[in-house]
Amino acid sequence: MAEEYEIGVIPGDGTGPEVLAEGIKVLRAAAEKTGIQFNFTHYDFGGDRYLRTGETLPDSAINEFRQLDAVYLGAIGHPEVKPGILEKGILLKMRFSLDQYVNLRPVKLYPGVDTPLRGKGPEEIDFVVVRENTEGLYAGSGGFLKKGTPDEIAVQDSINTRKGVERCLRYAFEYCRRRNKKKKVTLCGKTNVLTYAFDLWERVFHEVGQDYSDIERDYGHVDAICMWMVKNPEGFDVIVTDNMFGDIITDLGATIQGGMGIAAGGNINPEGTSMFEPIGGSAPKYTGKNVINPLAAVMAGYMMLDHLGEKEAAGLVEGAVIKVIQNHMKSMEASMMGPSTTEVGDLVVEYIQAGA
Ligand code: IPM
Ligand code: MN
Repeated sequence: MAEEYEIGVIPGDGTGPEVLAEGIKVLRAAAEKTGIQFNFTHYDFGGDRYLRTGETLPDSAINEFRQLDAVYLGAIGHPEVKPGILEKGILLKMRFSLDQYVNLRPVKLYPGVDTPLRGKGPEEIDFVVVRENTEGLYAGSGGFLKKGTPDEIAVQDSINTRKGVERCLRYAFEYCRRRNKKKKVTLCGKTNVLTYAFDLWERVFHEVGQDYSDIERDYGHVDAICMWMVKNPEGFDVIVTDNMFGDIITDLGATIQGGMGIAAGGNINPEGTSMFEPIGGSAPKYTGKNVINPLAAVMAGYMMLDHLGEKEAAGLVEGAVIKVIQNHMKSMEASMMGPSTTEVGDLVVEYIQAGA
């Protein structure tokens, strides 16, 4: 019996539908080649639906997602919707309610992709960020006092639970072991200022780390980590950090791996439904022009295959992407790639069909 997977698809806003269409094309090709089957169920959550109905992501949809093997998302963000509504109402709601407690973001420079770092190549830029994805400053704890008055107070709490920190750290060590490269986990924190939150992180880091004597433990303050990501990216293997720092350093990471055109991430609940997405946004100005780079979405599909345990299919996708980059693309930037969005997707499919 062929392995069958139920995948929820949320194309979303802007260029999301365009890049996801290519991603799905690629997944179907990889599935066909390796004898697995994907059943895709489309959901129209996003800015247009919100403007039409006032609905972001209903609980009924979350409950449907729980039955799925994974969710594949394009992009969320609509120029006519006030910032925060869709991000909180769709993206963060999904991460939180499906308890996708790790945001896994590989920073890998593929051969032929331009990096803004002089003198650095694929040998030097290959690490992974494990970002805590359900707590920290994103937890939504806080409030106003005396709002709108000269005495106004705004508080935004960073929530760090023992359980939340521990499961994220453990994931990082496990992932590092499986990855089997430099065997080093770097905790990215700010123990010199955030003396409560990162005290907890650091204590648990060393405690959990005891179970992984094969893995080196390393620590850096987030500001220094930013500097090293630029100067010495080759020093990193797995970086683990909280939600806010992870958000920030992964945009820097995406930039050094060639930009939003190629950067993908997975929102992982190892025991539940995970969600895979390109890291970039909905890029409204490129919408409908067939010029956006679909490779970030394709690589999100690659991460999904890898997560589902479909190593052969994943390998085919990655191999095909590498060939398309090397043989056909001038740039990872929208409108500068050479081939169009759909042509890039077609090329990846062709290499998969040829066995990559
Ligand atoms: C990301 C994005 C989101 C985040 C926004 C859109 C809420 O920047 O996935 O990194 O901050 O997590
Ligand atoms: Mn971000």
